[in-house]
Amino acid sequence: MAALWGGRFEQGASEAFARFNASLPVDWRFWAEDIQGSQAWAGALADVGVLTQSEAEDLKGALGKLASQLAADPSPLHSSSEEDIHSFVEAWLIGEVGDLGKKLHTGRSRNDQVATDFRLWCRKTARQLLAEIYQTLEIMAVLATRETGTLMPGYTHLQRAQPVTFGHWVMAYAEMLERDAERLEDAIKRVNVCPLGCGALAGTAYAIDREKLAKELGFERATRNSLDAISDRDFVLELLQVASTSGLHLSRLAEDLIFFGTGEAGFVKFSDTVSSGSSLMPQKKNPDALELIRGKSGRIFGAMAGFAMTVKALPLSYNKDLQEDKNGLFDALDTWSDCLLLTREVLATIEVNKEACAKAAAGGYSNATELADYLVAKGIPFREAHHMVGVLVRIAIEQQLPLEALTLAEMQQVSELIGDDVYPALDLMAALEKRCAQGGVSLVRQQEALKAFHGRLAAK
Ligand code: ARG
Repeated sequence: MAALWGGRFEQGASEAFARFNASLPVDWRFWAEDIQGSQAWAGALADVGVLTQSEAEDLKGALGKLASQLAADPSPLHSSSEEDIHSFVEAWLIGEVGDLGKKLHTGRSRNDQVATDFRLWCRKTARQLLAEIYQTLEIMAVLATRETGTLMPGYTHLQRAQPVTFGHWVMAYAEMLERDAERLEDAIKRVNVCPLGCGALAGTAYAIDREKLAKELGFERATRNSLDAISDRDFVLELLQVASTSGLHLSRLAEDLIFFGTGEAGFVKFSDTVSSGSSLMPQKKNPDALELIRGKSGRIFGAMAGFAMTVKALPLSYNKDLQEDKNGLFDALDTWSDCLLLTREVLATIEVNKEACAKAAAGGYSNATELADYLVAKGIPFREAHHMVGVLVRIAIEQQLPLEALTLAEMQQVSELIGDDVYPALDLMAALEKRCAQGGVSLVRQQEALKAFHGRLAAK
């Protein structure tokens, strides 16, 4: 390997430093983007007369040949001793076209080159992830539609609170993922600006039309300040932040489902295809896919916190610390993508036990609020009604009965105003139907929410 800066040096790098310094084992992943950026740069150099048009065409053609070779067989990327993807491509090019290859780096630095390559890769990958979020939302739409009428307990403090439906629960997570998609779309806007032509830090010395170059690479515009452009890694941090937040959402979803699948709750059964057994206990079937989703969210967050510490207190402009921007992001985005995929597999194959859900919803006095509302309708102030119902719940607990099993005489101990019409008011479906303001769990509102959701998905 010939270093890119040999002239000034009397000694070569030590073996340990060469290994420590090399990023090819990591940045090989954007070989296609490095080639794409170099082809565009060759064109820009021809526009300003540094290369003839035919030289630029030769360079682009040779780079195209490398691209086809690597697409067919990427193994040279893994056996090379070049320092990074930029020196790998340049060394290959010089081997292929000789001295002409040595002209390509005119006016360019690896600093603007790596920032450009990385942004191109991030744009491509973020768009794929956006599509994966939408695939996950589609699966959620199917499940939520199927389970719109499935009563189940809603919890606060992990204590049964009020009845909801399984569909309404699914849609809560769909909301979170829709926000993740929005955040990702927004982050892509700031990924999609082009630093090429900023040179090492101060700008390039050639009169490159940077806006034209940016457009050619599909960017929205060129970056404005060269010092910032070279050292800006906000786009990496933002992607890590979006991935972290989404990872936390998937972790919460996993946690709810793990609980729903316990023998104690028994609301859902997971497919064998996403579960594993125990080497010792023959009866076991464990929700490993979900536990891993919950666990891996920590790793995504760790990559975000780690890179934030890397950029903290970095002086302008480029510093080699910035080379640490890639590993964590690659791993975080791979992990996020895997978590989304497994979430889809779990949700697409989940079995919901409607009877167990309804039974749990009926227990735990989750219709107590209905009784309080009933008393309010009879003219009793809510605070007093709340207290009266509390007394009745205590009486019912003592007899190990649900509220609706108390006799009218027992109920009337707290208020003469309670009549026979109390029993239909305690029905869980009636409770559900009363939650009819926008965003509530009544069937009409759920259907309305689903319709709007399908509309948003179709518009994507
Ligand atoms: N491999 C380097 C990175 O990922 C490329 C830029 C090197 N620039 C430099 N001035 N040493 O950051």
